[in-house]
Amino acid sequence: MDKTMTSRRSALARLGALAGTLGLSGCAQVLGSASDSGTDLPPNPHADSLPDQQFAQNAHLPTDEAGNDLQAHYRRLIFLTLDGAPSDDAERTVERGMRTIEAAYDWRPDGLFHVLAWGTDYFKRLGKLSAAPISEPRVISRTDDPDLLEFDALLILESDMPSRLTAVENAMFGSADTLGGEPVEDPLGDVFSIAEVRTGFLGKGLPAEHANVEGIPVGALSEDDPTFMGFFSDRQGTQASEDRVTIDSGRFAGGTTLHVSHLTQSLGGWWEALDDTERVARMFSPEFDPSDIPDFGADVPFTDAVRDHAEEFDVVGHHEKVAQVRRDGEPIVLRRDFNTTDGDQAGVHFLSFQRTLDHFRATRRAMNGWYVRDDSRSITDRENNGILNFIDVQSRANFYVPRRDRRSFPLY
Ligand code: HEM
Repeated sequence: MDKTMTSRRSALARLGALAGTLGLSGCAQVLGSASDSGTDLPPNPHADSLPDQQFAQNAHLPTDEAGNDLQAHYRRLIFLTLDGAPSDDAERTVERGMRTIEAAYDWRPDGLFHVLAWGTDYFKRLGKLSAAPISEPRVISRTDDPDLLEFDALLILESDMPSRLTAVENAMFGSADTLGGEPVEDPLGDVFSIAEVRTGFLGKGLPAEHANVEGIPVGALSEDDPTFMGFFSDRQGTQASEDRVTIDSGRFAGGTTLHVSHLTQSLGGWWEALDDTERVARMFSPEFDPSDIPDFGADVPFTDAVRDHAEEFDVVGHHEKVAQVRRDGEPIVLRRDFNTTDGDQAGVHFLSFQRTLDHFRATRRAMNGWYVRDDSRSITDRENNGILNFIDVQSRANFYVPRRDRRSFPLY
């Protein structure tokens, strides 16, 4: 805790002592006992049934036959602007609001997963961006000219039940006064306004159901397609573990960093100009044949020979490029991306958690594939270079995700 916290704690302690002397027991209850929540509220009553890391959910997900986690189907990203200066009251309101959400729904896909993350604008307000574990978003590919966005905060909601996402938004930022049967006394809307909402979905059947948008040729998708580009992308071995992306020491221990970008997809050429073999080469690697894909199971058995493939096949795959940044055989980013039709355009909201934003940037540089240009003249910044010919980055933003018991106004 920083010194603002210490001085507030001692002010509260003095008030508590005063309340005790005057026999104001109700007041002592309001003040609560000091906990490490940073809010001086009583301990979170749901803490025992919730992971310390806000983003930890793998242990609560169902798996497919190969053992891969199946993430929740519906997503809502609520980007937030603080309406006033950070204050002790606002800090308590936010923590109470989050506890109401936790009281309303279980931590499981048919309940609700949620994350409250804090953006670069928030740390700038505090004058503490340089002390925070995140930095401003940057342009990191020369094929894109994204909006570099900065927010105060982001509330991520995920559930298999889309009505839950709407219910939380209405209770926290609208007029609903109950949520899942719980009274809503401290809505997040008392502290924040909504800056932007993004939506999306994940899982078999849903891409085809939402395919009637710009960027997807009519009839291109079948019921079986798990994503707009036709491939499942959450094999266990291709994801960093939740522990690997958790900051392991110091004042931010238990937290992580979050990158959020919006990519639009133009898939006319993907579905109409390429055949299955060409799509597999671009998504994974030219070393694979479409018949190999169903056998992948819980990992992608790549040979780590991107430059050789460039020379031999004049095409390189997305997966083989990004997998080069694995450490000790394990990926360094945990992807929680999903498809979207926001703006009536096919796209991906790309969310990734990583211990430091450098890990995201290193991964994205590997994806850019600039290093193969000496190996093949057919591979350009976009052409024959993984999936880069089919995506455009519209915006980027960075966030810090505190540990659950420090999630309200970090560094304040
Ligand atoms: C339209 C956008 C994207 C699509 C459709 C896509 C698709 C995929 C697919 C199908 C895989 C294979 C995973 C598996 O079979 O389990 C994969 C892996 C991966 N992707 Fe993407 N991806 C996209 C964007 C990105 C971006 C923007 C990044 C980060 C800069 C990224 C980083 C990764 C990483 C790190 C892996 C795992 C690598 C490993 O196994 O070590 N992807 N992606």
